Amino acid sequence: MKVMVVGSGGREHAIIKKLRLSNEIDEIFALPGNGGMAKDATCVNVGAKDIDGLVKFATENAIDFAVVAPDDPLVLGAVDKLNAAGIECFGPVADAAIIEGSKVFSKNLMKKYNIPTAKYEVFTDMDAALKYIKTAPIPTVIKADGLALGKGVIIAQTRDEAEDAIYSMMEDKVFGDSGSNVVIEEFLTGPEVSVLAFTDGNVVKPMISSMDHKRAFDNDEGLNTGGMGTVAPNPYYTEKVAEECMEKIFLPTIRAMKAEGREFRGCLYFGLMITPDGPKVIEYNCRFGDPETQVVLPLLESDLFTVMKATARGELDKTEVKFSDKSACCVILASKGYPVKYESGFELTLPETDAESEIFVAGAKLDDGKLLSAGGRVLGVTAVAENLETAIKNAYELTDKVGFENGFCRRDIGRKALNAEVK
Ligand code: AMP
Ligand code: GLY
Repeated sequence: MKVMVVGSGGREHAIIKKLRLSNEIDEIFALPGNGGMAKDATCVNVGAKDIDGLVKFATENAIDFAVVAPDDPLVLGAVDKLNAAGIECFGPVADAAIIEGSKVFSKNLMKKYNIPTAKYEVFTDMDAALKYIKTAPIPTVIKADGLALGKGVIIAQTRDEAEDAIYSMMEDKVFGDSGSNVVIEEFLTGPEVSVLAFTDGNVVKPMISSMDHKRAFDNDEGLNTGGMGTVAPNPYYTEKVAEECMEKIFLPTIRAMKAEGREFRGCLYFGLMITPDGPKVIEYNCRFGDPETQVVLPLLESDLFTVMKATARGELDKTEVKFSDKSACCVILASKGYPVKYESGFELTLPETDAESEIFVAGAKLDDGKLLSAGGRVLGVTAVAENLETAIKNAYELTDKVGFENGFCRRDIGRKALNAEVK
């Protein structure tokens, strides 16, 4: 079978490495992929947002199955168009991907179906938003409606900051049209948990839980990034919390999507906060998380391709999704200056990995046989071990063997999880 994976980051590399273990797959293409995955897949120079280009490649090359990993092509309808061309896909159609594509949609969905989330108001008019903010409880959270590369969320600690956020989103359009509508919501507190779940629209099978580290520097300082590292499982996601999430969040969400005529098939990402009043949804993503995937998939014991096909075909009830009881840690090596301004083109030398470690390449290109950095987040160094402490230790030992002059990483990935006091 010929499989194509759409996307170019560390998440896609982790998906590709896992798919390579399937006996059924003969060839994997990455569109566009990156130079660091060239050993694992044939990289094809078609951008993830070039939907017509994706369909053309798939049909001309008799692709049997496509995995569409990033949010943009999903929201733009890549799966709809590939399906129309007869290509089976893992990933939601555009009508379902809206659960990430529009925060207004997802908040209204949760309100309508009683799914626990922060209280909120939607504004399409800037003056109304400014007026509301004069009396809203502080801190407050302001979110641009559409996709904004994970950056469209501002936590305002004062009313002035809240006003600035509204002006910048609704007047200066710093997030483009994403900011035409804004959601202003209640500030919640508690540990955050990411749960990725396979769902075929009827059945939902959560993967092992994980914890992201979004800020650029140690102790959660610095700007928000795409994610500087992850660990799995997340100690705050106890069995009791998992049961409550299944009953009050996961099943109600997939039923709500079905009831709305937007059946979701693919990986649904639940960004949760375990608040004093129980778990609540902070955000939905219509895809695998990055870098959550880099710790979750190495712990998957079932065959990923089998699970993806069952998800696409509505046969998830008959398919086992089994995880190892080990732990994993992924440390992101980023370019100095990320997430603001950074240089690329630094040579990367990667140490050998073993059965319990992997280096996922997120931003690199091959130049005359040399691997050069090409992006903000460059590598995801992952180790799997019997317990979290060893996984963290091994991930950092491997990270320290990487040659990357311009690189930096957080040194505290997993510390919060290790120190977690869970009731
Ligand atoms: P998002 O892009 O929606 O995941 O938001 C980015 C980050 O902002 C989340 O990971 C949370 O840490 C934080 N955040 C978002 N919404 C809220 C909220 N209602 N209360 C507190 N923190 C939030
Ligand atoms: N790690 C967060 C995300 O994938 O959106």
